[in-house]
Amino acid sequence: MVGTGGAKLLRIQKMNRSSDRRPIGVFDSGVGGLTVVRALWRILPGQDIIYFGDMARLPYGSKSGEAVTRFSLEIANFLRRRGVKMILVACNTASAYALGTLQRRFRLPVLGVIGPGAKAAAQAYPRGRIGVVGTSGTVHSRSFQKALRRYASGSKVRAVACPLLVPLVEEGWWRGPVTETVARGYLQPFRGWRPDALILGCTHYPLLRGLFGKILGRRVFLIDPGERMVQRAREILKGAGWKRAGRRRGRTQFYVSDNPEQFRRLGGRFLGKKIGKVYLKRF
Ligand code: DGL
Repeated sequence: MVGTGGAKLLRIQKMNRSSDRRPIGVFDSGVGGLTVVRALWRILPGQDIIYFGDMARLPYGSKSGEAVTRFSLEIANFLRRRGVKMILVACNTASAYALGTLQRRFRLPVLGVIGPGAKAAAQAYPRGRIGVVGTSGTVHSRSFQKALRRYASGSKVRAVACPLLVPLVEEGWWRGPVTETVARGYLQPFRGWRPDALILGCTHYPLLRGLFGKILGRRVFLIDPGERMVQRAREILKGAGWKRAGRRRGRTQFYVSDNPEQFRRLGGRFLGKKIGKVYLKRF
């Protein structure tokens, strides 16, 4: 039974909820997840963000599922202690291996990139040919393939690991002959197959959008799962009344487990904007 006091409490809760100041937690193995921060700045500009890059233990793409899950749990615990309202797993490899465990362990909404990425492809081409590119871990986990079977059982799926593209992107080589040759080699299995859509299943690949389009042809629908995850986050925040209201732009705080200087340098390139303070948090 809700008395007057109860009604007041409900009003206050509702008021608080209509402008929820808690930050959104985002994590990745390193700098790649900054492509998700960019999407957050564009799609949810008023929200505060705490970003964690696991610079001490990257890359995740070649690690075991057991190790990636352990690292992800440590980071998610850290973010929860910082009072986040939601956790976004920006890293495709961590989403592929650890999302289920994180969702079982935490009461907060925890979102990954696999479901939103696969759904976008399924909606556009329910019976089409869908290509997936990602790290070795993501491709071998078969997470995208399983999600596509669920959302688009009539589709045909082909997945290819492209591990060398990660260091090339971090080097700033987003175009040019070396990266193009490497990308053409990896994308060879798609050339005659003519996919309708290609899921860019790695944090770094949205930066190679132009190159993928050049190699596969402009009509291939390129899907950035990180951006789709952020759109899903916006729906959830709106539905729960958890968006921070007002016109003020959100603040982003950066944490890393090692090498803050390197993060600042590389991260600035990913964001197209200088990064200020980077905090160190070792596990
Ligand atoms: N962030 C990773 C991913 O999206 C790529 C880099 C890594 O292997 O750690 O899968």
